[in-house]
Amino acid sequence: MAEALISVLLEQLASVVYQHTNEVVKLVLNADKDVKSFSSNLKAIQAVLEDAEKKQVTEVSVGDWLEKLKDVSYEMDDVLDEWNTELLRQQVEEKQVVEGDNALVTKKKVCFPMPSGCFCFGQVNKAIHHHNIARRIKELNEKLTLIAAEKAMYGFHQSTIGGHDDQQLIQRQITSSLVDISTIFGREEEKEYLLSNLLRESNQDGGSSQEGKRFLVIPIVGMGGMGKTTLAQLAYNNENVTAHFDKKVWVCVSDPFDEIKIAKAIIENLDGTQSSLNELEILLQHIKTRVENKKLLMVLDDVWTEEHKKWENLKLQVIMQRCAKGSKILVTTRKEGVAKMMRATSSMIHLDKLNDTDCLALFNSFAFLDREEDEANGFGAIGEEIVKKCKGLPLAAKTLGSLVWYKKTREEWRDVLNSKIWELEEVEEQVFRPLLLSYYDLVPAVKRCLLYCAIFPKDYDFQKDDLIELWMSQDYLNSKGKKEKRRIGQNYFESLAMRSFFQDFIKDIMGNIRGCKMHDIVHDFVQFLTQKECTIIEAVKGANQRVELPGDYKVRHLTLTSLPEGPLSFPTSFDKCKNMRTLTLLDSSITAISPGSIMQMKCLRTLNVSRSELNEVPKEIGELIHLRYMDLSWSRNLKELPDAVCDLYNLQTLDVSWCGKLEKLPKAMEKLINLKHLYVGGCIELRYLPKGIGSLKSLQVLDYFYACEGDDEALKLGDLGIMAQLQGSLSIIYLGKNDANEIEKIEKAQLGNKEHLSHLGVWFQEGDEEQRKGDAEIVKALQPHHNLESLSIGCCQIGTTESLYWIKSLHNLRELRLYDWRFCELLPPLGKLPSLEILEIEGMKKVKTVGVVFLRIEEEEEEEQVSGILFPKLKQLTFRSMYNWEEWAFLSEITIILMPRLSELQIDGCPKLKALPEFLYKITALRTLEIWACPILEGEYEKDVGKEWHNISHIPNLTIQSGRKKRL
Ligand SMILES: *[C@@H]1O[C@H](CO)[C@@H](O)[C@H](O)[C@H]1NC(C)=O
Ligand SMILES: *[C@@H]1O[C@H](CO)[C@@H](O)[C@H](O)[C@H]1NC(C)=O
Ligand SMILES: *[C@@H]1O[C@H](CO)[C@@H](O)[C@H](O)[C@H]1NC(C)=O
Ligand SMILES: *[C@@H]1O[C@H](CO)[C@@H](O)[C@H](O)[C@H]1NC(C)=O
Repeated sequence: MAEALISVLLEQLASVVYQHTNEVVKLVLNADKDVKSFSSNLKAIQAVLEDAEKKQVTEVSVGDWLEKLKDVSYEMDDVLDEWNTELLRQQVEEKQVVEGDNALVTKKKVCFPMPSGCFCFGQVNKAIHHHNIARRIKELNEKLTLIAAEKAMYGFHQSTIGGHDDQQLIQRQITSSLVDISTIFGREEEKEYLLSNLLRESNQDGGSSQEGKRFLVIPIVGMGGMGKTTLAQLAYNNENVTAHFDKKVWVCVSDPFDEIKIAKAIIENLDGTQSSLNELEILLQHIKTRVENKKLLMVLDDVWTEEHKKWENLKLQVIMQRCAKGSKILVTTRKEGVAKMMRATSSMIHLDKLNDTDCLALFNSFAFLDREEDEANGFGAIGEEIVKKCKGLPLAAKTLGSLVWYKKTREEWRDVLNSKIWELEEVEEQVFRPLLLSYYDLVPAVKRCLLYCAIFPKDYDFQKDDLIELWMSQDYLNSKGKKEKRRIGQNYFESLAMRSFFQDFIKDIMGNIRGCKMHDIVHDFVQFLTQKECTIIEAVKGANQRVELPGDYKVRHLTLTSLPEGPLSFPTSFDKCKNMRTLTLLDSSITAISPGSIMQMKCLRTLNVSRSELNEVPKEIGELIHLRYMDLSWSRNLKELPDAVCDLYNLQTLDVSWCGKLEKLPKAMEKLINLKHLYVGGCIELRYLPKGIGSLKSLQVLDYFYACEGDDEALKLGDLGIMAQLQGSLSIIYLGKNDANEIEKIEKAQLGNKEHLSHLGVWFQEGDEEQRKGDAEIVKALQPHHNLESLSIGCCQIGTTESLYWIKSLHNLRELRLYDWRFCELLPPLGKLPSLEILEIEGMKKVKTVGVVFLRIEEEEEEEQVSGILFPKLKQLTFRSMYNWEEWAFLSEITIILMPRLSELQIDGCPKLKALPEFLYKITALRTLEIWACPILEGEYEKDVGKEWHNISHIPNLTIQSGRKKRL
């Protein structure tokens, strides 16, 4: 993806020339001339890049030329970054010396004790280093000059630079939640057939081959992009299907067919837990006990193997025989051979092309999304023509519909119709053509972001925030304006979602998109475009730990999966890592990374060794000066990080969350001047955060704060005061006692000035009487900014809720959770919070009555103000472990409307509660009522016989159980 790379590089070059002119380095360097010449060559090339990028798909030599160009550009990027890092280092060191002097601490300097001043080693090193950089710039310039000369051979068209810009993103930006169109077009017949087969009790389908079996295999066969998975999903999520089966399992199989992986996935799906076992027999045994006599629906999505032997190895037959009669296996596959191999052709569903009517309907649902009726007029005829290009493929219709959604004029629609791409012979997969068309329409920076997704395996669940931080770490999120990088990342994400490159969105409880997947063909497509840069290697069972890379090209982004336990090492002669910018390990249990391997990956920007068995991080990590993203989360053996981590001046994201043994973070964290995101949640052994974090001006996300006063090395709550830029989620964990001094300091934390914080969590320690007084003061002092959307307070020891007086100012609060306030007798007044949607109250053991106070913000409010709607937006209400709660009383004031939007109510573990309040019976929105472990209610509301049953019998989704609800 040279376009974006080069435009960013040009900006960097410009800033090098103008910014650092008065630096000492320049005197040594004298590289100005080369930098300028390099820039002007690059500009000349930039003008033809758009054309070159298109031609490379069909002309191999253009592809090679672009490769060379990219090599040089990447190298220049590295050199500039090195230079920049050197400047950062000087900055940090100067700052330290100044601060050190102030504090009267003598700094160690490596100096010759010479009478006439100092001659430091540092300076000699610097000079050599700068000379080295100058030499490399000169060489790169020579290379680029040759490349620029070659471009004449290809007869590229010039394009107007800056033709694309952010405009396009801004003009048609709407929330991507709209994209999530789940209607299925033109598959009614197939759907009916599938449902009736799934819901059928016996398996007498006429096929004698199935005779005597207790289960049926239904294959859905069709070429890529036909909507097989969509159909399977539709059936899987159908209410009647869910009710019909005792257990449902969904497994993505893909290629290669790995029995152990599949067996593990089945277990994960059944139990929600990951299995560390690697013995197929044991895994199968485990599955058998789980499904014994249960009516099971198992979906195997995207099966490729036609080898009967592999299929046999999985022993699904044996497993299914153990299940209850009427169990089913649903298989999706592109190959009819798979259905044959499974001897299940008689129940096969063949997905064919959509006919033009259905295809057009699908296309239109994307193309005219949110568009006015009359606006759509006049596009119809062109639309019909475009749809013919889809050849009945739903994915193509979706992609093209999303593409023209961005196009305003008929002219632009016609351009899509008349694109040369439709004539490309070289693109084998038919469906790649509409994808290419849509891809070319992206701005260069967004193209890069899309292609980066090739580092993930098929069917990978992306987390949106992770993806944005990854893009950031590769320096993809630049803009000329002042716009914040995270915002840009969000726009890019939405843009890709709106164009249907992403799908299967996962939303949080508030409806915000948290994650998504890529259609497997879209994944094939990005891999097709990035085959020279991104490689995924799956470790072969039994092979040793040494990693061999295929091909003779330079891998820039490498993903290794399933590495067994042991140290990771690359062959020493191995220079392919030299250019590597991303290393991701998935499903791997490596215990160590050799220093040698680290030293081979000098260009690394992004390193993910999450969920490994890593025992330590070698100090050589400090040599990876370009590193911007380091994910070590869930490394359960890791006790500490080397101090050298603090030499990573470019580091933006450090994730050590859920490192259960991590005892401390390195001291000198103030040196990480670019750190933006620090994740330390779930580090139960971590007693405090180092003080230096308080001076990190770039820090935007700090997920957990371990408050430990009284230690000089620890970051104090008061230090949060200057961190007004914090955003996202912050949880404060109290460790240890609080005293009067501390409370003053909490005021200094100024949570009220953190307008970008969306979630605040506060967790107190259990304590004595003294502590309880302190808690009330702290709660008072914690008043957050009124932008806050979500608040949780746990283990608070206060007896009354007066100190929570500020809660009424939280007009934007949508979620509130209060846990284990064991001394509190009354619930706080919450009824007037205008935005509250989710309320969870747990472990308020002293509460006997829930009533009037709970409704109102202030007790002494005038009558007329009380009238109106209380809890106007509340949707979900949960009471849990309220062991002494007896009465839920509400005055039946006619003027008040209570909780009109409540749709889910859960009461769990309230053994003394006598009745539900009457107003609940009338809430028409109420769809789900769950009552767990409430013996009195259980009797009163028992189905058909309970005295009060008639009051709730109209609620569609009712659960009344005597046990406690299981929680994940
Ligand atoms: C296409 O199929 C749908 C049913 O899926 C049918 O209603 C429609 O008439 C068909 N259109 C054509 C042009 O065959
Ligand atoms: C479930 O089955 C009932 C009865 O056959 C039917 O009326 C209803 O539409 C079905 N629901 C779904 C979602 O298919
Ligand atoms: C890092 O790796 C872990 C597992 O090894 C994975 O779950 C996670 O999604 C990866 N994160 C990113 C941002 O790639
Ligand atoms: C029914 O209630 C369960 C929880 O008991 C919930 O997970 C499910 O989504 C509800 N179904 C509907 C259709 O509301």
